[in-house]
Amino acid sequence: MQTVTTLDALRDATAQLRASGEIALVPTMGALHEGHLTLVREAAKLAPHVAVSIFVNPAQFDPNEDLDAYPRQLAEDSALLEAEGVALLWAPSAAQVYPQGFATKVSVSGVSEGLCGASRPGHFDGVATVVAKLFNQVQPEIAVFGEKDWQQLAVIRRMARDLDLTLPLADRIVGVPTVREADGLAMSSRNRYLSHNERTAAAALPREMKAAIARIMAGENVNTALNALESALIEAGFTSVDYAALADADSLELLNTAPAGPARLLVAARISSTRLIDNMPVE
Ligand code: PAJ
Repeated sequence: MQTVTTLDALRDATAQLRASGEIALVPTMGALHEGHLTLVREAAKLAPHVAVSIFVNPAQFDPNEDLDAYPRQLAEDSALLEAEGVALLWAPSAAQVYPQGFATKVSVSGVSEGLCGASRPGHFDGVATVVAKLFNQVQPEIAVFGEKDWQQLAVIRRMARDLDLTLPLADRIVGVPTVREADGLAMSSRNRYLSHNERTAAAALPREMKAAIARIMAGENVNTALNALESALIEAGFTSVDYAALADADSLELLNTAPAGPARLLVAARISSTRLIDNMPVE
């Protein structure tokens, strides 16, 4: 595996790889777990070369969020990626990505406005901007993301379509189902912030989401089911619920009644200061 930290080295490395086949990119912020590694394995099925980026993107953190505390472990991550047969690790510095005078922002309206967009203002501008840059830097033929961040995936797909980003990329943004711990909790780099008791309580999130989906599918009023879900999470030890919503799976428009087409239950909730998100199909 080649590790590059400058744009010049990246261009040379990608040109060399591309000469012998397509590149699939897996963008990450590091602190890799089985969820990330599953994306890497999916990417390897789709292209002969896998490139992974590790960059803790300051633009997608709020000033009072956990940017400084976010786990950084490049040596450990690098060993994991090497073992997966990754060809290229792109690990730029913040100065490389946001040089002095940087003044451009990619902002996707509509799908990025509700849900996490409402509780984390500016977050999806930061995500869209850095992912547009990563696509331009690496110029992959395929890019792989997790369904764990369902709204993020919708924002990135919209952005790639709207900006005509190096086709056929727009059709080749691949979503991978959420990888979960044995008790159902979605894997996340933030799970390590949880104390033992908080980690036990966190398992209520997927459990109560499944229960709410069952109630909605059985015909219970959607708002009643969502309110019951919020109460159950607080009862189980969550500190607060940012949102619990039923939405159209593609447009993310909120639904107040049982869905006619593909729909998703999406939740963001906090245990102390740790914010967990999850989403599941309603079917
Ligand atoms: P990060 O949180 O590191 O996640 C990197 C990728 O891994 C994302 O596509 C995310 O959806 C996926 N992922 C995380 N946990 C997962 C799980 N349990 N199962 C399946 N996939 C999972 O998401 C980001 O970084 C950043 O916003 C980024 C896209 C890199 C832009 O900075």
